[in-house]
Amino acid sequence: MNFYGAQYDPAVLREIVSIELRANGQQVAVTMPKSLPQVWSLLARGAFGTKPETVKRLADSIAEKAGVDAASIHQTRHGLVVVLAKPPELRRTLTAGELLRAVLASRRPLGRLAVPVGLSILGEPVLLDLADATSPHAALLGATGSGKSELARWALWWLSFRNGPAVRLVTFSPKKDYADLLGCASMAHPPVQSFSEALRLLAWLVGELDRRMTSGEREPRIVAMYDEVPTLLKVAPEADNLLGRIASAGRDAGIHLLLGTQEAGKEAGSSAMANMPARLVGRVSSGTLAYVTSGRSGTDADKLLGKGDFYLVRHDAVRLQAPLLGAAEWERLPYLLEAAELDLPEVMPLQAQPQRRGGSGWNASDVDENEVLAAFDAGATLRAVMDEFGLGYTRAKRLQDQYQEVS
Ligand SMILES: Nc1ncnc2c1ncn2[C@@H]1O[C@H](COP(=O)(O)OP(=O)(O)OP(=O)(O)O)[C@@H](O)[C@H]1O
Ligand SMILES: [Mg+2]
Repeated sequence: MNFYGAQYDPAVLREIVSIELRANGQQVAVTMPKSLPQVWSLLARGAFGTKPETVKRLADSIAEKAGVDAASIHQTRHGLVVVLAKPPELRRTLTAGELLRAVLASRRPLGRLAVPVGLSILGEPVLLDLADATSPHAALLGATGSGKSELARWALWWLSFRNGPAVRLVTFSPKKDYADLLGCASMAHPPVQSFSEALRLLAWLVGELDRRMTSGEREPRIVAMYDEVPTLLKVAPEADNLLGRIASAGRDAGIHLLLGTQEAGKEAGSSAMANMPARLVGRVSSGTLAYVTSGRSGTDADKLLGKGDFYLVRHDAVRLQAPLLGAAEWERLPYLLEAAELDLPEVMPLQAQPQRRGGSGWNASDVDENEVLAAFDAGATLRAVMDEFGLGYTRAKRLQDQYQEVS
């Protein structure tokens, strides 16, 4: 029930918004509300040149008069858009099919790495194009339950549906988030859930990055979704450098990152996160977090409604509703009888890695004594052999004596 006693009648909502804007000096024509899954949106035409901050202050009184929990005002290329949160019982889910129909209807050309991440508050599809030089990687941020993993599932589903094996996907989440992708024809490797395998997969990706940087190859494109990044970094801090390398050099090698995190700012202090050119920001719990996660002011991510209500932040911030995949959609992907598998390199935790070959402790036994003798033969000094093989004086001297005896 709203201020005027009418129950969310579209014409009444429009009247309320018009009156409120006009009473505050905005000479605008307000359109009928568009009914989107979780919100109504009304376009206020003729408000060009209006300072958005002036109008944004009216949001709370509009919400109160319209009898909704929250209202927000967004500047778009068509003018100001007033968004009213629907009462929870009227909210619904955006299906993948609905979004795809909107994409078709928009007739926008869709590159093969362009993911329609959702419907904007104007009801238009919003594209995140990983092939675009300004957005080769993206971070997904937001509080628990805001819909990051579902959005990533949708993006991966779409890339697979659109490209088949021409795009290779790899995923990591300590939860079962990406298990549906097991065996799908785009997966380069089964979805990874353990931290150690996540690290090995990253080492493989960086190896592939190095190889491609030398050869100049960019195909096939690889999209790597790493969810719960801060948790991974706590267990395997060395993952940060690897992710950071891909974030900074991956674009030219056709390797793209999607990184999921609940945290933002200093506490997530990761070099890879700092290098993310596009961010999908879901609901967060405070205004401060809204600022930190979106990296700019004015995106009130703390006022988002959750369940796939996101901002796509690049040079601008666009509010969108992400779709939710149903079980039937997964059956439409091409699957293989046997899941493809990569030969992942072994990765030793950094602490246990010997600093030099051999070493004077437990790993000195690994030294091949014949190699040491060969080094003496090649004219190496005692000092040089100790450094090169990580040997203590006693053992190096014994080997030197042994070499001199036989020569
Ligand atoms: N686009 C959506 N439409 C409707 N409901 C959604 C949508 N996205 C997510 N949800 C609902 O919210 C729940 C949580 O979503 P999801 O697992 O993606 O959250 P998350 O942000 O990854 O949280 P966490 O950080 O805890 O992993 C889903 O199980 C689903 O019920
Ligand atoms: Mg998640």
